[in-house]
Amino acid sequence: MPQTTITLDHPVDFARWRNATRALVGQHVSPEAIAWHVAPSGQPDTPAPDARPFRIPRETMQLAADVLQSMLPDRFTLAYRLIYTHVTGTDIPPPDLTRMEDAAAAVRAETVHLRHDLFTLMQHTDGDDGWHATLQATTYAPECNARFMTFQLSLAPWRLVLPGRRMEWTGKELLYGQDGAAPSPIAFNSLPPPAMPLVNGLDIPRITALPAVALAARTCRICPMARHATQTVFGEGRSDARMMFVGEQPGDKEDLAGRPFVGPAGQLFDRALMEAGIDRDDAYVTNTVKHFKFRPRGTRRIHEKAGPEEIANCAPWLAAERRVIRPHVLVMLGATAASALLGRHVTIGRERSRAIKLDDGTTGVVTVHPSFLLRVPDEAARVREYDHFVADLKLAASLRTPAAP
Ligand code: URA
Repeated sequence: MPQTTITLDHPVDFARWRNATRALVGQHVSPEAIAWHVAPSGQPDTPAPDARPFRIPRETMQLAADVLQSMLPDRFTLAYRLIYTHVTGTDIPPPDLTRMEDAAAAVRAETVHLRHDLFTLMQHTDGDDGWHATLQATTYAPECNARFMTFQLSLAPWRLVLPGRRMEWTGKELLYGQDGAAPSPIAFNSLPPPAMPLVNGLDIPRITALPAVALAARTCRICPMARHATQTVFGEGRSDARMMFVGEQPGDKEDLAGRPFVGPAGQLFDRALMEAGIDRDDAYVTNTVKHFKFRPRGTRRIHEKAGPEEIANCAPWLAAERRVIRPHVLVMLGATAASALLGRHVTIGRERSRAIKLDDGTTGVVTVHPSFLLRVPDEAARVREYDHFVADLKLAASLRTPAAP
């Protein structure tokens, strides 16, 4: 007989389920002792202060999240039992496990279908109404792909009518409600993580709003580098910039700050930009690779060069930045950026200091990476190299077409 009642805010309220599970499993409360209810409260959740952090394998937690996206009436209990048995070292009844695996498979299938058919499903209305669709979903996968849809549709408003419920992204907030009730705002973070990583199936070339590209890139965990870095360091600057600068990869300082070129190389870069008469605030500055790659040594993090695979993983983000910004001049800082953008092995000495026509009509200029200047050992050579770098930046600035009056 249940002695504890947990009220969730909506039928896919993963955040409250997880907080309650964390507290109750910590006290070894058995699955049978808990009754789960759904009733919108409009109140923020207050996790139990003594809740112990889970030590649950990622795939077990994802199975729980997938089960919560099913329509099984006892899904909260099943998912709780999965965690409870894991923590207490007891066995999960095989029929329960089979039901969960079947439910998760159905959720995955609906996720794939939704992602694949998103643009076929969605009708677009011009004006403020955005995209809309009516979907005969048999799971809660559409809810859990709200973030995916929002990125894919470039943050444009959308509405989804589902059996017995509606969901709407207004461009500012996510609204959700059962038929017959006024929808209320819910947090993206309250929903279970989708059954497939968020960026899987994203048609990045279709994303036309830079903030949507940036948000999607910030959720990317494709390579191990992304999992170890503090955060994604996306480009920054004006989306209508006439000059775009592309470096190699963020360093330690950039990783911590979440901004490109803010460390020692960035400071030198800023100085050179100023001497070349370029206002960094008018430009767009980014990197070929969006994560800091390092090797731990004691408490230090030693920079490691990103390899071809990592450059290839990040290529869609850089391509999307180029496509959205459409700069007049693209400045490639160093061989990594130049090779990635020109699509061939580049030797800086042979390619630098001249205008290069790129495939999209943009003018490219190759120059050294500012960190190269920091490494030149001889003072006189350093000054010479720095002056050459500033001259390259001036050349790039001269290739911009004039700003609109
Ligand atoms: N080096 C780069 O290539 N990019 C940065 O953002 C910092 C250092």
